[in-house]
Amino acid sequence: MEQRINALREAMKQQIEQINSKENLAAFWQDFLGKKGSIADLMKGLGTVAKEDRPAMGKVINDFKVQVEEQYRVMSERMEQMELQARNRMEAVDITLPAKKHPQGHLHPLTLVRNEMINVFAGMGFDVFEGPEIEDDDHNFTRLNVPKDHPSRDMQDTFYLENDWLLRTQTSGGQIRVMDAQKPPIKVLVPGRVFRSDSDATHSPMFHQMEGLVVDKGITLCDLQGMLDKFVQQLFDASVRTRLRPSYFPFTEPSVEVDVSCFECAGKGCSLCKHTGWIEVLGGGVVHPKVLENCGIDSSVYSGIAFGIGIERIAMLKYGINNIGLLFENDVRFLKQF
Ligand code: DAH
Repeated sequence: MEQRINALREAMKQQIEQINSKENLAAFWQDFLGKKGSIADLMKGLGTVAKEDRPAMGKVINDFKVQVEEQYRVMSERMEQMELQARNRMEAVDITLPAKKHPQGHLHPLTLVRNEMINVFAGMGFDVFEGPEIEDDDHNFTRLNVPKDHPSRDMQDTFYLENDWLLRTQTSGGQIRVMDAQKPPIKVLVPGRVFRSDSDATHSPMFHQMEGLVVDKGITLCDLQGMLDKFVQQLFDASVRTRLRPSYFPFTEPSVEVDVSCFECAGKGCSLCKHTGWIEVLGGGVVHPKVLENCGIDSSVYSGIAFGIGIERIAMLKYGINNIGLLFENDVRFLKQF
């Protein structure tokens, strides 16, 4: 019996040295300490030992059992340690590695320009009002002094919907909505999308305008030019000047086309200004008395100025974009440049 125990002790020492996983460790436990393991076997064999030797032999078996259990405990702890170390190695973070970059989006160039324009006018005390994109004939045309069958309707290729509804061709209808809701003094911007059946390198069937309206006592064309001077100087360059050319819009009298001196060549002549030294940027004028009257504002007491700016046009000039389509294709290679 004693020989068997010594042989098992040797086998145990060898097996313990080879343990390198939890599976090995579990097998070791089964082999020695399990129900059918070697120590249970030894216990069973105790019956064949002479009665007087049994207590001593029992103690030897028990000491061996304690020794095996101790080895098992030490090995379990070592396995736990190894596992922990392996996991820590796997989860280790190298803080010297360059961080993963999450590309950040930004506002669309049209939104940037729109915000910039609003900022400049807000500095002069303008509020912002937004009207509906589906508009009625009355607000888009008739009350702006464009009666049905008036030839000036042909200035804009309108998308008509059912009955008297249409997709607004201009933000000017916002003037009517503002004057219906509010009495002078009025100083308001109406930015928004407009629609016309028109498409080429500089025209898109959907584009953006910003309307401006000022109504108060004693407002004149000089106020328009003064405001627009400040506007273009802040938007383009402090050195640019404006020039008013006579024009025609049904809702203003007189009407003007507003040019800025070319900020690219300082008026000397270049491809941007088509060698004229001037760039057309917007239309405007003194609000036609009929338009004021159409909104219940006494034109013998009040007068107004109005203007309409194409936001795409300003963005294209500012950023040197030669095709309006680029602003709507949303190609990130283009958008990233802003
Ligand atoms: N609505 C005009 C257009 O779309 C632009 C415009 C011109 C607006 C003169 C105005 C204005 O308010 O006074 O072409």
